[in-house]
Amino acid sequence: MSNKLTIEDVDLTNKSVLVRVDFNVPFKPGSTEISDLTRIESSLPTIRYLLHKNCKVVLCSHLGRPEGRPDEALSLRPIAFKLGELLGIHVGFVNDCVSDEAVNVTSEMTGGDIVLLENLRFHSAEEANDSEFARKLANLAEFYVNDAFGVSHRTHASISRVTEYIPGVLGLLFNREVDSLSGIFQCPVRPFTAILGGSKISDKIKVVERISGLADDILIGGGMAATFIKSLGHAVGNSSVEYEYLDFAKWLLSGDKNIKSRVWLAEDVVVGRDFSSDSEHKNYKISDINERGMILDIGLGSISKFRQIIENSRTVFWNGPMGVFEWDSFAIGSKSVATAMASQSITSVIGGGSTVEAVSRFGLRDKMSHVSTGGGASLQFLEGRGLPGLDAIFDRSN
Ligand code: 3PG
Repeated sequence: MSNKLTIEDVDLTNKSVLVRVDFNVPFKPGSTEISDLTRIESSLPTIRYLLHKNCKVVLCSHLGRPEGRPDEALSLRPIAFKLGELLGIHVGFVNDCVSDEAVNVTSEMTGGDIVLLENLRFHSAEEANDSEFARKLANLAEFYVNDAFGVSHRTHASISRVTEYIPGVLGLLFNREVDSLSGIFQCPVRPFTAILGGSKISDKIKVVERISGLADDILIGGGMAATFIKSLGHAVGNSSVEYEYLDFAKWLLSGDKNIKSRVWLAEDVVVGRDFSSDSEHKNYKISDINERGMILDIGLGSISKFRQIIENSRTVFWNGPMGVFEWDSFAIGSKSVATAMASQSITSVIGGGSTVEAVSRFGLRDKMSHVSTGGGASLQFLEGRGLPGLDAIFDRSN
């Protein structure tokens, strides 16, 4: 359990509260229609809790990377509207997060009112971690709540500096993320299996190292399997290989006594003629891949082995899809893994980023014990490197 103060540890009744949320959500191309509501829906418990306490709720977030300039395409206005629909109340919108308008609107709020401020990153001061900008944000409320786990690895003003001016606590989502992610690494119910995929080892090397000292079994698939297959001396066609990680891959597969886990590399893979959704494809043992084609999914033998290991596990952590799950022909490996994890007897934790998209696409999000809203943030947290957004919050003992 996290030792940081949360909204349940302090009396926020009737207070004005600045809530940092992560509403960095995807939109349908060229429209203002939000294509995935996960992050907005995940923030609702905190928002409802604060409204129930009769707080004046001032929400702030970033959206995209506007590079310090206003950009209508990255306005949060459509999100204020959608949030109002989800909450069933009017959500006000303020055109600039630190303008006179922001000061006036927030000072006139009464208990139970809620507003969303315009994109924090329209000001370069946000990403520059500017203290004056943080002070202006802090001036809008009496308390600060960080519920933006997904961006808590950034040392930005709204994440790491507001608590220099007003007291800060964690929201319910952030606290749940910390408890779920640290829980599986601190005291997993065993057998504990980690499934690792996605395109690159380099993105998650530190997490892989940490997991290799903790998990009972590690299953390796996805694009990054190509580097492991190559390290065994096999051909991988045109699949991309991270040559600087070949030695690491070889070591992880070596059975070295410092590796606590049994490591299972996909034993067969689906190889497509080219990188396209309707590519001709065939199942190959990893020792039989020729010099052409690309690995696009794990194969049937691997699926069967992986399912068996997952089904015998009590805790499963998954980061990185097993194949190009966006294309039906190459989604079978990822879908099989997700389906096996969806069992009620397994504590199943999805480690953010594209793995969340995959689970949502298969309609299995609600079947998992925890689906992280942070990609980069969850990896940094699991590496044990700490998070600026967490460090800025007071400990319970203070
Ligand atoms: C995310 O989507 O990963 C977070 O919102 C962080 O966004 P950023 O990578 O633009 O800082």
